[in-house]
Amino acid sequence: MGADRSGAGAEGGVRPLTDGARPLKPPPDRLYGRQRSHPLRPRQQTLLDVTLPRLRFAEAQAAEPRAAFAVPARELWLEIGFGGGEHALAQAAANPDVGLIACEVFENGICSLLSRVVPEGGEATAPVPGNLRIWDDDARPLLRALPDGCLDRLFLLFPDPWPKARHAKRRFVHPAVLPEVFRVLRPGAQWRIASDDPTYQAWVAEVLARQNFFHVPPPATARPDGWPPTRYEAKALAAGRAPLYWAVTRNVSAP
Ligand SMILES: C[S@@+](CC[C@H](N)C(=O)[O-])C[C@H]1O[C@@H](n2cnc3c(N)ncnc32)[C@H](O)[C@@H]1O
Repeated sequence: MGADRSGAGAEGGVRPLTDGARPLKPPPDRLYGRQRSHPLRPRQQTLLDVTLPRLRFAEAQAAEPRAAFAVPARELWLEIGFGGGEHALAQAAANPDVGLIACEVFENGICSLLSRVVPEGGEATAPVPGNLRIWDDDARPLLRALPDGCLDRLFLLFPDPWPKARHAKRRFVHPAVLPEVFRVLRPGAQWRIASDDPTYQAWVAEVLARQNFFHVPPPATARPDGWPPTRYEAKALAAGRAPLYWAVTRNVSAP
């Protein structure tokens, strides 16, 4: 869909950034951050073993993602890094005709979402939302596997901020990632980004100011309507931090 996806040129419509004094490094194709913490309790293990396969979005489904849902999907939305799943579950419940792929790598977070979907004892049998699917892996290979223009909305809520300049390459909002996000969103689709970290906020503003894939209105300082809260946001507000909320729109083409 017009975006240059090749190697160094993959930054397409983005003007160069640095991570301080040095030129910005491309994002490494490996995950940073925790994927598990304390050992899983038996219920959590059952949720992963029994309930997750009932909801898992498989890579083989990426070519025709809407066919992965048990209900017809008017639109396809993706949430990257759903944490405990509060926002994903609220969106799936409020929008039963939208197919939502929710993506998370942290096992305890995945268990947290699954524990709200099925009661204890119902791991194998309790109904699961037909419009929700889980990608329990790095979001970036999923993005690469999805077809051009398939997504109607993308959520990136309170991504890991990686505030040290030398870790800037780990940030999800990255000049090299924008062409891929542009490719998978349909023209006019919305990408919602929230952050409470001042370094990341300044970074998002700078990255978005240097590109022409997305139309970027100023961020809101209060959570907009239709944007359910998350656990991480609640912690940020309780600690006195001031989140910013971007809702950017995918341009028709990137010059
Ligand atoms: C700071 S937490 C925020 C969680 C949630 N969005 C919230 O607001 O409560 C960021 C989450 O992104 C997840 N994450 C980081 N990199 C990821 C990746 N490449 N693919 C999928 N999830 C990722 C982490 O595991 C973590 O749970």
